Amino acid sequence: MFPKTALVALSFVAAVLGQQPGSVDAENHPRLSVQQCNANKSCTTLNREVTLDSNWRWLRHNVANTYNNCYTGSTWNTQYCSNPATCAQNCALEGANYAGTYGITTSGSSLTLKFTQQGPFGKNVGSRVYLMESPTAYQMFNMYNQEFTFDVDMSNLPCGLNGALYFVQMDKDGGMSRFPNNKAGAKYGTGYCDAQCARDIKFINGEANLLGWNASPTDPNAGKGQYGTCCDEMDVWEANKMATAFTPRTCPMRGTSCATFDNRYNGICDKDGCDFNNFRMGDKNFLGPGKTVNTNAKMAVVTQFISGSNGLLSEIKRFYVQNGRVIPNSYSTFPGLTTANSLTDNIYSTQKTLFGDFNDFADNGGMAEMGRGFEKGMVLAMSIWDDHEAEMKWLDANYPENKGPQHPRLIRALDVGAPAYVQANHPNASVTFSNIKFGPLNSTF
Ligand SMILES: *[C@@H]1O[C@H](CO)[C@@H](O)[C@H](O)[C@H]1NC(C)=O
Ligand SMILES: *[C@@H]1O[C@H](CO)[C@@H](O)[C@H](O)[C@H]1NC(C)=O
Repeated sequence: MFPKTALVALSFVAAVLGQQPGSVDAENHPRLSVQQCNANKSCTTLNREVTLDSNWRWLRHNVANTYNNCYTGSTWNTQYCSNPATCAQNCALEGANYAGTYGITTSGSSLTLKFTQQGPFGKNVGSRVYLMESPTAYQMFNMYNQEFTFDVDMSNLPCGLNGALYFVQMDKDGGMSRFPNNKAGAKYGTGYCDAQCARDIKFINGEANLLGWNASPTDPNAGKGQYGTCCDEMDVWEANKMATAFTPRTCPMRGTSCATFDNRYNGICDKDGCDFNNFRMGDKNFLGPGKTVNTNAKMAVVTQFISGSNGLLSEIKRFYVQNGRVIPNSYSTFPGLTTANSLTDNIYSTQKTLFGDFNDFADNGGMAEMGRGFEKGMVLAMSIWDDHEAEMKWLDANYPENKGPQHPRLIRALDVGAPAYVQANHPNASVTFSNIKFGPLNSTF
């Protein structure tokens, strides 16, 4: 039998540029239909598919009839991975058993991601998939002056977990043409990047990220190398049953960053982002079980990306639709923000001052830069994850903890978001995304 599959518990955001395509397990992407709508609200169904990010895949020595791991748990096999380029040549990313190993299933327009899955080779934790336009290319999105709508069911997604739907500015082919060492490409989910400059990515720019690699102190399936891979990120949805936020995070100098420049505010991206979290913005009764937007049931989430008179992206607006009723996003209850239920550069800067946060979004180009990211084309990612860095406190608890009541995200007890806790208590948690629609403003709902 094969050695245990190397599975990765995702911490923040991870990406892999992968190397060789595998030859042991076939890669069959789960089908997922989406809808493209026009100004007349008439929508066309597109038959699409999703692929699993390469960081989760079995990485094996690429020799016929051998099943030796190139990477196991949080450790590189130095026999095949003595240096970054050799490792990329020696090692292959294998096809995924989506349902059995990873708990990823689709049906029609619906995608379900299960938090943990006990598979034939061990326990998988979390997953991240990308929407494909074809078997070998990602679907690219430019949401500038457009609208994106999906249904989400979070009734089985408790505190401490995150069911995320977001855009990142990855290459359409997963980086194959820019980095010839990467022979696996988008088909195998390569080329992830985001505004955290994630360093847990095993392959970046066609090379293994094994220099300076350190195992995670808390996650048996992850580590960090000396490089991170950085790009614009639009978090349309980061949420669980108790809390939600939408957050642009900009990265005007897309590329690879080095750990030595990893300082939160001196790096090349806005890691904090410009978030609208209903609870933190003051309306504690807006979203949750039995609240105005009731997370015990499915809801449609509408996000509009609106250009200003200067022709640049200026505002991100949110609506919900539940039981046939359109529900505008909640308004902030804080002085100076009571007319704010969307995100603009002005709202964000008022909010940063109010909360005593550093405005790194403005330093990284603000809304206009988010619009430029879309003009280059962004890839749609959907994931479920627990948080080894901050136990998801930034979403549904008090964070940073020493900030006190000035920083009102206190929803839950602090200890119930720890990965060990959620994995032990909520192994069968899941999120379902469905009915994805996109098109001009006011075309999808
Ligand atoms: C909307 O409908 C009108 C009338 O049927 C048609 O002329 C127009 O081309 C349609 N617009 C789009 C964007 O499909
Ligand atoms: C999770 O699901 C499995 C399989 O259906 C079941 O055996 C187990 O008891 C469930 N665990 C929890 C904590 O609900």
